[in-house]
Amino acid sequence: MLQQLEELKLNALQGLETVNNTKELESWRVYYLGKKGELTRILRSLATLPLAERKAVGAYANEVKTLLDDSLKQKSQTFREAQLAVSAKREAIDITLPGRPFPLGRLHPLTQTLYEICDIFVAMGFQVVEGPEVEWDYYNFEALNMPKEHPARDNMSTSWIDFEAENDERRMLLRTHTTSVSARIIETMQPPIRVIEPGKVYRYEASDATHTPMFCQIDGLVVDKGVTMADLKGTLYEFARRFFGRDKKVRFRCDYFPFVEPGVEMAIECLVCGGAGCRLCGDSGWIEILGAGMTHPQVLQRGGIDPEVYTSFAFGVGIDRLPMLRYGIDDIRLFYGSDLRFLRQF
Ligand code: DAH
Repeated sequence: MLQQLEELKLNALQGLETVNNTKELESWRVYYLGKKGELTRILRSLATLPLAERKAVGAYANEVKTLLDDSLKQKSQTFREAQLAVSAKREAIDITLPGRPFPLGRLHPLTQTLYEICDIFVAMGFQVVEGPEVEWDYYNFEALNMPKEHPARDNMSTSWIDFEAENDERRMLLRTHTTSVSARIIETMQPPIRVIEPGKVYRYEASDATHTPMFCQIDGLVVDKGVTMADLKGTLYEFARRFFGRDKKVRFRCDYFPFVEPGVEMAIECLVCGGAGCRLCGDSGWIEILGAGMTHPQVLQRGGIDPEVYTSFAFGVGIDRLPMLRYGIDDIRLFYGSDLRFLRQF
């Protein structure tokens, strides 16, 4: 039996030499060390031996078993290491490769303009406030000195919200200007007031290169004791200088808006021709950019502010025209078309 064990040991070790992969190793294990394997068979038959012989053979058999177990472990360790080396090589990360670029979003050119204008006024002590786009007739017209039959209403083609209102003051509309927010502010805030009111406004109009049914405005309102036309001019001059540049000329002329008295329009020197006259400025050399004026006493009064104590100026700017002038964009619809080829340029 010792002879058998010796042969088994030699065969097994020799066999192990030729094992090339884990699958073969497993077959080898089953053949020699498995429950029905060669060594197990010999160990089982130990019981048939006389006691003295059984001890010696048994000891040797255990020795062989330990030897084979160890060899098996060693071999499978070698395989594991080899495999690890292979996968480490395959999965290696080249840290010298450049990263993949992230697509970066950006702010819409109108949003950029809006932020820029807000920053200019905030630096002058203004506070940014907002109001509803769906508005009462009252705040859009009535409170701003435009009663029902007022002709100025016709200049602001209105999108009405269609529902049965018992009286006209309860009618709703899409606000035609952000001046509606000023009407609300006069009612709710105590002077001193210094606010700007950015937002979307709506006109019932077809779109073309210079009109869209929705566009953006910023209104401004200042109410305090002793506010004069000089404050209005100083504030708006400063805005124009900061937005368009210190070297640009600015002009004020009389204009009419029902909610201010006197009313003015502000223009800047044409950015394209510098005042000489061109297609953009209609040969006048000037481009109108905003309306303004001293808030009408009746408007203050109606909102609960005493016009004998407080005076006020107001202004309203269309936002869309500003980047058009600055970048030479000739079609306002580009701002609302969501064409990334256009938007990515800003
Ligand atoms: N709301 C006017 C418009 O949309 C612009 C305007 C003019 C606003 C004079 C004002 C102002 O606050 O004082 O045409």
